[in-house]
Amino acid sequence: MAEQWDKHDMSFLDGRRLRRPRRTAWSRAMVRETVLTSADLIWPLFVIEGQNEKTQIRTMPGVERLSVDLCVQAAKAARDAGIPALALFPNTPDHLRSESAEEAYNPDNLMCRALSAIKDAVPEIGLIADVALDEYSANGQDGLVRDGEILNDETIAVMVRSALVQTRAGADIIAPSDMMDGRVAALRAALDQEGFEQTQIMAYAAKYASYFYGPFREAVGSGNRLVGDKRTYQMDYANSDEAMREIEQDLAEGADSVMVKPGLPYLDIVRRAKSEFNVPIYAYQVSGEYAMIEMAAAAGAIDRKGAILESLYAFKRAGANGVLSYFALEVARDLGA
Ligand code: PBG
Repeated sequence: MAEQWDKHDMSFLDGRRLRRPRRTAWSRAMVRETVLTSADLIWPLFVIEGQNEKTQIRTMPGVERLSVDLCVQAAKAARDAGIPALALFPNTPDHLRSESAEEAYNPDNLMCRALSAIKDAVPEIGLIADVALDEYSANGQDGLVRDGEILNDETIAVMVRSALVQTRAGADIIAPSDMMDGRVAALRAALDQEGFEQTQIMAYAAKYASYFYGPFREAVGSGNRLVGDKRTYQMDYANSDEAMREIEQDLAEGADSVMVKPGLPYLDIVRRAKSEFNVPIYAYQVSGEYAMIEMAAAAGAIDRKGAILESLYAFKRAGANGVLSYFALEVARDLGA
């Protein structure tokens, strides 16, 4: 027998009951405000040398660095799952890293070989090439360093050369993640001059000096060599107005789309950017965010699949047009292409 409980007199509500549309699944589906589809997901891949080679990343359980041939297979899987684009990051072997980061513009570097192999085998998928020196430098900084200072204009000269070899190899979108001043204008001019008017620029416009990049630095092999921090170029996490200036400037310089990074701790920036600029805004659910979800789930603290979807929906709700996420393939498959 069901308990009999007294009802409170709710006449003050005057019939306004917000739970009404939540009662049934069909009704919840009708009032749902945002949708997540596989087209919202961009999948980052870490590339290593070798053939049929995968290596584990200790701080990113479930993510593997892949040799170029396995990247091609991954690209096919991504395409089949409806993912529109991949973001590639090379783990450059130690002996090729240097103070001047010359490997960044070697037309036969690991990044370029991955770009062209994927472009040949899976031309339908978009390829986003990260442009920054930390993946090639001996010190893990995103720029050239002299007497402890990160040089801006000298770094840009290397980045331009790097972006051109990447574009020739098959990159569709150049994504500078370095936060040097003026790099979008410099890249746009160089691309146009070389006949790559159609190559897009996705600027990591509001990129913060974040503690959440730790696992990524392990993945690309820059972490243990990094001396100091990146606070003279990446943004102070206390700032929001400054992010709007960064975005405004990158757009004025010719960026086709902009990125906010990290993701979940910076949803206010995503929302504000979407309200202030009518342009495509992407958010990066970075490696530390990935690790937090995976490790909390492994410890039995949260439901893994549920937490992943909730986190990705939060980006859409905040106004992001898409999300770079290490969960992309799994989620795209779950959602159905
Ligand atoms: C390098 C770069 C970083 C990330 C993307 N590009 C690391 C950094 O700036 O130190 C971080 C991505 C992640 O944490 O998943 N310029």
